[in-house]
Amino acid sequence: MRKFGIIGVGHVGVTVAYTLVTKGIADELVLIDSNEKKAVAEQLDLEDCQARLDTTTKIKVQDYSELSDADVLFVTAGNVASLQHHDGNRWAEFEYTREIVKNIAPKIADSGFNGVLVDTMNPCDAIAHYLQREAGFTTAQCMATGTFLDTARMQRVVAEQFDTNYKNVTGYVMGEHGASQFVAWSTVKVNGHPLMEYAKANGKDFDYDALEEEIRMGGWAVFSGKGYTSFGIATCAVKLAQSVISDAQLECPVSSYNEKYDTYIGQPAVVGKNGIEYVNQIELPPDEEAKLKNSADTIKEKFATM
Ligand code: LAC
Repeated sequence: MRKFGIIGVGHVGVTVAYTLVTKGIADELVLIDSNEKKAVAEQLDLEDCQARLDTTTKIKVQDYSELSDADVLFVTAGNVASLQHHDGNRWAEFEYTREIVKNIAPKIADSGFNGVLVDTMNPCDAIAHYLQREAGFTTAQCMATGTFLDTARMQRVVAEQFDTNYKNVTGYVMGEHGASQFVAWSTVKVNGHPLMEYAKANGKDFDYDALEEEIRMGGWAVFSGKGYTSFGIATCAVKLAQSVISDAQLECPVSSYNEKYDTYIGQPAVVGKNGIEYVNQIELPPDEEAKLKNSADTIKEKFATM
């Protein structure tokens, strides 16, 4: 049985739930929300899908003890406030999210949950670290979507320059899922070619800082039009969960614990049945390493106040 829990069925949590149900990924699903009526309504709405689907998902609500044998727990309780500030500064959500996490972390710990936790709540790097510490998990068990989403945005922005499929762009956005993130341009390839060489060969002269800014503000571009972001983030979260339940050993940038800087941060890691199987240490050129350190310092400074 593949069992999942979701704490927080707002825009992100419900998109995760809908994906798990309609793609037949979950045999069992536990929905928990501070608003019980909303959780029950989402349960009913998802149950209304079942007679038309080829797969069946048993859905339970509001019961933390049901998490004890869940494989993956999504913590998506704070994203309603996501990116409310025009500069897209996710630290604006810090105090709000911290209070939610203070309330739910002991409940997660008491539930007996011992699977892999995927956090999407912002500022997600610090929040994942806090959840890991407060709920008493190993660092392997606890991750946040981190720059997996920003990397998807990078793939879109770069692919569109070359009129190629988004999946043909590889490489990483690293650091904070927030303002101090950076595109590790040294890692980016298009159709298998190092980006900068490929751009030159194709007569393209990019303003890389402008591209990076478009990527960094990608969440804001969505938020300012629809009032929240949901599909991109939920798809990243589900992809990580699928990698856990199928032990896919997927290598991707994800917010995980970095020993060198003693913080959670978006970095390439391998995701499998134990969560973060290992961090894929890549050697960055000095300017990119300095950006990683700067981003780590930013996250750590805030985490220290939690
Ligand atoms: C975003 C939110 C999830 O970037 O931070 O879409």
